[in-house]
Amino acid sequence: MTTAEVIDLVALGEDFVRDPYPVYAALRARGPVHRVRIPEGAEAYLVVGYEAGRAALAAPELSKRWKNASPSFPLSSPAAGPHMLNQDPPDHGRLRKLVVREFTPRRVEQLAPRVRQITDELLDAMAALPDGRADLVDALSFPLPISVICELLGVPALDRNAFRTWTGTLLTETDPRAREAAHREMTAYLTGLVESKRREPGEDLMSALIRTTDEDGDRLSAGELLGTAWLLLVAGHETTVNLISNGVLALLTHPDQLALLREDSALMPDAVEEMLRYDGPVETPTYRFTTEPVEIGGTVIPGDGRLVLVALADADHDPARFPDPGRFDIRRPTGGHVAFGHGIHYCLGAPLARLEARIAIGALLERFPGLTLDAHPAALTWREGMLIRGPHRLPARWGV
Ligand code: HEM
Repeated sequence: MTTAEVIDLVALGEDFVRDPYPVYAALRARGPVHRVRIPEGAEAYLVVGYEAGRAALAAPELSKRWKNASPSFPLSSPAAGPHMLNQDPPDHGRLRKLVVREFTPRRVEQLAPRVRQITDELLDAMAALPDGRADLVDALSFPLPISVICELLGVPALDRNAFRTWTGTLLTETDPRAREAAHREMTAYLTGLVESKRREPGEDLMSALIRTTDEDGDRLSAGELLGTAWLLLVAGHETTVNLISNGVLALLTHPDQLALLREDSALMPDAVEEMLRYDGPVETPTYRFTTEPVEIGGTVIPGDGRLVLVALADADHDPARFPDPGRFDIRRPTGGHVAFGHGIHYCLGAPLARLEARIAIGALLERFPGLTLDAHPAALTWREGMLIRGPHRLPARWGV
């Protein structure tokens, strides 16, 4: 049962941003569903725990369409147009199928040598720094995914810095005016990009999405193309940045696990899964709104467009599913973690995210055998908002 009390998560301040896990665990001890006020300025029903979280992610009564939000909901949809993550069945399936046709495992595998090359260039630049220290967010985690997703979609290199600013603002800025300005600029840019790909198609995914037609003649409309390009750029960037940052931080603060991985690089795929479970980049995924009353973990949430947020971070720290969840253990079974979501909206980019993280973290460890954290972990500052979790900076040194 939830109480009528609304818990103000903003009032918990910096401590909650830095380490939300104990707050979620304390809520879980009281029950699976809680009314909260979130930093973005809205009220939400927050779902904690593994079973309740998975149930909410799969509940058909929860809609991804912002038009189903209650009329008094204070925020507006951040997207540039319809895309699979802001639609429900059957539109969701239609949009996802058209993208899956082109965003194939083959296209992802073909990116591996290029991911390695971009990583090596970034690590070369790092190794050339005279004092043997760098901010790993700036040097590696940030530039790698933006380069990869821009290359995949065919966004020119020159325009990538603007994307870095826009996607960062959209996902972690809590001031709605700043978000709206970034949204406007990014939409205008993408509209121009789609037009230029129409005139001069290339080998990239965006050109393929413009061209693609289903067996029954279905294709993406102009608005859907814009929305989909927007989704792939935003979802494909900030998330992976923080998988790399949070993963490296977990290794550097757990020298025994780092040593294990250095001894046996075949553990890397398992290590990346544990990084996703232990401190995944998506703390609570995108918004869901009730279209009818829904019962989750014994609590009935009213059906009139209430916002429901699922604490993925807590689901993956539920001791009923992952024993001793606060222990970072790269050899533990991690099957069933929900860092990539669950149900019909399960992350479409998971293979690409895994590829990037394995290559980036593997190459970093190979290249810098003496890598250590160059700050006290408690001194790191964390990105605001409840969607994305990751440090602003990750100072490291390796000795020269
Ligand atoms: C570590 C990196 C990543 C994480 C942790 C992650 C996480 C997630 C999560 C939790 C969802 C579900 C959201 C929800 O149900 O509200 C999702 C959906 C999605 N992700 Fe990812 N993501 C990552 C990387 C990527 C990449 C690299 C791409 C694309 C290039 C991508 C594309 C998508 C798309 C298109 C969806 C929507 C799927 C649908 O609605 O059917 N993601 N992701």
